[in-house]
Amino acid sequence: MANALSKRFDGDSWDPASSVGATATMVAASRALASQGPDPLLNDPLAEPLVRAVGLAPFIRLIDGEVTLDDDPVLNRRARSEQMAVRTRFFDDFFIAATDSGIRQAVILASGLDTRAYRLPWPAGTVVYEIDQPQVIDFKTTTLADLGAEPTAQRHAVSIDLRDDWPTALREAGFDVNQPTAWSAEGLLPYLPPEAQDRLFDNITALSAPGSQLATEHVSNPDAFSAESVQRIGEHWRRAGFDLNPGDLFYQGERSVVVDYLTGHGWQVTAHPALELYQRNGFAFPDDESMALFRDMSYVAAALA
Ligand SMILES: C[S@@+](CC[C@H](N)C(=O)[O-])C[C@H]1O[C@@H](n2cnc3c(N)ncnc32)[C@H](O)[C@@H]1O
Repeated sequence: MANALSKRFDGDSWDPASSVGATATMVAASRALASQGPDPLLNDPLAEPLVRAVGLAPFIRLIDGEVTLDDDPVLNRRARSEQMAVRTRFFDDFFIAATDSGIRQAVILASGLDTRAYRLPWPAGTVVYEIDQPQVIDFKTTTLADLGAEPTAQRHAVSIDLRDDWPTALREAGFDVNQPTAWSAEGLLPYLPPEAQDRLFDNITALSAPGSQLATEHVSNPDAFSAESVQRIGEHWRRAGFDLNPGDLFYQGERSVVVDYLTGHGWQVTAHPALELYQRNGFAFPDDESMALFRDMSYVAAALA
């Protein structure tokens, strides 16, 4: 079934250079940018070779400094790097705290070109499952193996669409429902149909032993993903030479409020507004309407008693 405003449909698929897959490359390019220079905000050395291997020219030009967007309030190097630093540090810290509390099983949903399974200091014996569409996850596995990168945990790639029966695929890959799990869903939710978002959290809850933890994002303003708002973001990326219209990729329609939905399913939820995390990191939030969507965003940590 097609979605009213977007170009999405049931069963659509992609690689890291196309459709929703290209957004994984877009955020990896931002992590590569944030990892450059004498005083980098992130340390993700595999982001850059992954982006180069995908081969999308606008992102390569961006990380090579051939496109400078110094006058763009959203995409200038500092704004982009700070936004990715806020987001990446939140999820990194979440996993580090979860393993400090004794959790030894993690699931990274929609892992894209994220390299946490290769760069975080996972305690010995930790098992990390990464789930994404087959062409995205296979590309990452092969490219990183060719680069000689070694996972820092026992990594299992689970190739499946998150609109399909991913819990079965996860169990078949060895996932242990009796162990507490640290879950992340980063940069994923608007790409799922509203009912698939609910099903995602239903499945996570059903697969979570007591003591499990979850990190994700929440947008408080229901108009945050309006056509006008996402159009504005697309305009900035078009200036960078990347013809992205997020409205084509997001599923529209009313969706559950993440914090309320998780709370209703027994999770103890803490939402950290983006502004709070910017402040905590010592950054000023960019003063531009195009950032409204991100200003309305909270980073959510939840725990199941
Ligand atoms: C914006 S990227 C975020 C990737 C990664 N979490 C990160 O932050 O770098 C969105 C990711 O969601 C994945 N994704 C979106 N919908 C999906 C679906 N139905 N099944 C599997 N993966 C999906 C895409 O393949 C892509 O890797």
